[in-house]
Amino acid sequence: MIWFGGDYNPEQWDAAVWAEDDALMRQARVNTATVGVFSWAMLEPAEGRFSFDWLDETLDRLHGNGVRVILATPTASPPPWFTLAHPDALPVRPDGSRLWHGSRDTYCAAAPAYRAAALRITGELARRYADHPALAMWHVHNEYGTRCWCDHAATAFQAWLRGRYGTGPAGLDALNEAWGTAFWSQRYSAWEEVLPPRATQYLPNPAQSLDFRRFWSAELLSAFVAQRDLLRASTPDVPVTTNFMGPEGLVLDPWEWGRAVDVVAVDHYLSATAAAAGHADIAFVSDWARGVGGGRPWLLMEQAPSTVIGPDGLQEHRPPGRMLRDSLAYVARGSDSVLFFQWRASRSGAEMYHAGLVPHAGADTRIFREAVALGSALERIAEVSGTVSGSRSVPGSGTVSGSGAAAVIVDAESRWALETRGLPSPRVRHLDVARALHGALWRAGIACDVVRADGDLSGYRLVLVPAVYLLSTAAASSLRRYVADGGRLVVTFGSGIADPFHRVYTGGYPGALRDVLGVCGEEFHPLRPGESVALTLGGERSTPDGGRGTLWTERLRTDGATVLSRYAEGDLAGLPAVTRNAFGAGTTWYVSTMLADDGLDDLLRAVAGEAGLAVDGVPVSRRVDEDGNSWLFAFNHSDAAVTVPASGLELLSGQEVAGTLELAPGDVAVVREA
Ligand code: GAL
Repeated sequence: MIWFGGDYNPEQWDAAVWAEDDALMRQARVNTATVGVFSWAMLEPAEGRFSFDWLDETLDRLHGNGVRVILATPTASPPPWFTLAHPDALPVRPDGSRLWHGSRDTYCAAAPAYRAAALRITGELARRYADHPALAMWHVHNEYGTRCWCDHAATAFQAWLRGRYGTGPAGLDALNEAWGTAFWSQRYSAWEEVLPPRATQYLPNPAQSLDFRRFWSAELLSAFVAQRDLLRASTPDVPVTTNFMGPEGLVLDPWEWGRAVDVVAVDHYLSATAAAAGHADIAFVSDWARGVGGGRPWLLMEQAPSTVIGPDGLQEHRPPGRMLRDSLAYVARGSDSVLFFQWRASRSGAEMYHAGLVPHAGADTRIFREAVALGSALERIAEVSGTVSGSRSVPGSGTVSGSGAAAVIVDAESRWALETRGLPSPRVRHLDVARALHGALWRAGIACDVVRADGDLSGYRLVLVPAVYLLSTAAASSLRRYVADGGRLVVTFGSGIADPFHRVYTGGYPGALRDVLGVCGEEFHPLRPGESVALTLGGERSTPDGGRGTLWTERLRTDGATVLSRYAEGDLAGLPAVTRNAFGAGTTWYVSTMLADDGLDDLLRAVAGEAGLAVDGVPVSRRVDEDGNSWLFAFNHSDAAVTVPASGLELLSGQEVAGTLELAPGDVAVVREA
């Protein structure tokens, strides 16, 4: 079964609407409702006084209607009484200003009063609903991510730092060394002197800022784990998760959190108007979610049925037909669910113009009809649930059989470090570069996993390193070993520059990978918005147009590598831009500028070709089970009909496919392969 449904907030409605909800859920074949996410004030109207009647009734009603419940703990939105009783638990910004209640997420997770209150309501829920037959999963909190710079946070930060660097004077010495406090007279002589990176006169200490980001990921994780363990104690067999924001919104280290949840659950809010970019976005986020969960099936916990408020403040809608195609694109890449925020559009409250599966206009609407069609499609492909997807499990991915195709490294710490003020360019963002490389493979139809920097790379034909700025010596050694053993590694600018304490590796950039790449960088020359630089096609100085580089350039010399293209103008004219190097049994490429999409496509298609990966450009994915059964998902995102080689039973239409599958523009097909 594919979990289908979404956030359900019946507390905003009356009994007549509940009855209609039941009927419409049956019509749309909804089988899952996420309940109680923001219900703390309903459940605990005054400190220590609980009121569960409406939740009892809701769970009973859903159960009677055949709908399973993902029951949330409501701790992302403490009630107003909590704030008034515990003002010290309100979050404080870097400038010292304290926020008030009136929205959501107004708490400091390092405040003892908040932690205690969160565990109290969680414990009550665990006790009351442990044996409820509707309970299918626990959903702890909502999108953990609120950070705080208050005194509670300072105390917790100091404790975390003592855990990292050691207690007592030796620990402080280690911290002083790691943070480079010799600069600007920042040397600490007592733990109480070490504060969060609060608003200050000029640039903050980069290592302190990075450690504070690590600290908050760990502190929020400990808040999650405390709730998780309480729930597990009551219901050892009910899985516990929390919904992660998508990669950009997430302030947590997904790799650490991925290990702590029973199943990875992700919220993904696509920009509906970004057509082609939107499809690539779904592919990237899905591969990321699957990677964070160690390759297992994951859950799409929230997406928007249609309208969201876009970056310019304007409401955007999801174009007709996209609800099905987009939803199946997540399933193709390993999601076992298609869940939405939210079931019914609210008529009041901060998100009253956010789409619901049942819009303000009711059920006689395009959106609800698309939801009904989606529910029936998901029933027809229910057999794929529990099967796996991914580059390592895609026998038809390229010419590779039984081994991995490609992987891209994603690293939260590099992302955080690159966001530090005072770096050579504020515009180099790890996730942008990762998405660009992943997008080039997606356009080429090559399956790609998302992996961690120190992960197991064996079996991948090709590994991409996108501005992975921080590399530990251990992670660098693992990349070195991968190449020495015959791997192919594409490394971009901005990778391997600093160690995990944000200290630059000296002797030439990128210090952690110079030998593997056979290059040595001397100077960074980042580009301004709108600036670009011409490149030669091929390593010869006189060759014609090789496209353009943007964002970043650097003064590079080779130290064993072959030059594939050079800068054709400016201060760097004639110097290497893209290089290739043989190392052990493997090959590396170094890309010192941000190639435009076509340049990146050309490079990665050539590299993939060398890696033995077929480049066909048709966006297909497979899910496979342990017995070798496979399901092909094929999408036509273009304006023209396409044909895809396939044989088997197409599950959405029930038609047999013999050899070729025809896909009209906008179509999607799921073939149980013969
Ligand atoms: C999510 C959040 C939901 C809702 C939604 C609106 O980030 O978890 O509660 O606010 O955004 O898009």
